[in-house]
Amino acid sequence: MDFKEYIRVIPDFPQPGISFKDITTLLNNGEKYREAINELKKMVSDLKIDLIAGPEARGFVVGAPLAYALGVGFIPIRKSGKLPYKTIEVGYDLEYGSDRLAMHSDAVKPGQNVLIADDLLATGGTISTSVQLVRELGGNVVGTAFLIELSELNGREKLPGIEVFSLLQY
Ligand code: PRP
Repeated sequence: MDFKEYIRVIPDFPQPGISFKDITTLLNNGEKYREAINELKKMVSDLKIDLIAGPEARGFVVGAPLAYALGVGFIPIRKSGKLPYKTIEVGYDLEYGSDRLAMHSDAVKPGQNVLIADDLLATGGTISTSVQLVRELGGNVVGTAFLIELSELNGREKLPGIEVFSLLQY
């Protein structure tokens, strides 16, 4: 099954030179969306996972259904200022811009196994920041899972020693 035909590629968005991979066309197709999540579920089936963490916003549409499918909890990682309870925060750079990511300080118990999921691995900034957040609370990052990996940006290099699973590579 080639899911690429369900991904819409938009040149020069949000700025010149960026070829945006639009997953909304996959999400719009209930059958293919479910198949994609089920494929990711198969890819991580050998891991022991207690929780899935996903960075907003698009990490939610991959991480939450994957958590549901696996029957494990979901942790939202959000941009600074959005979470209501006590948080830990880490600053990061992304493909275009910079920001801070936050997670509730009681979201992970020491020793819990956490898979981090997102729609896209580009430079790896978002996911390596998410890894830092989980580790700061004593969590064990057992892997990362993505719908799409932009291979030429070498995001994997920011994730040394961490397993990376991606459904589609560009
Ligand atoms: C996008 C994407 C990933 C991240 C990938 O999110 O959903 O989270 O960038 O880029 P990186 O590997 O270079 O960090 P974005 O920050 O645009 O937020 P959004 O999901 O809320 O649109």
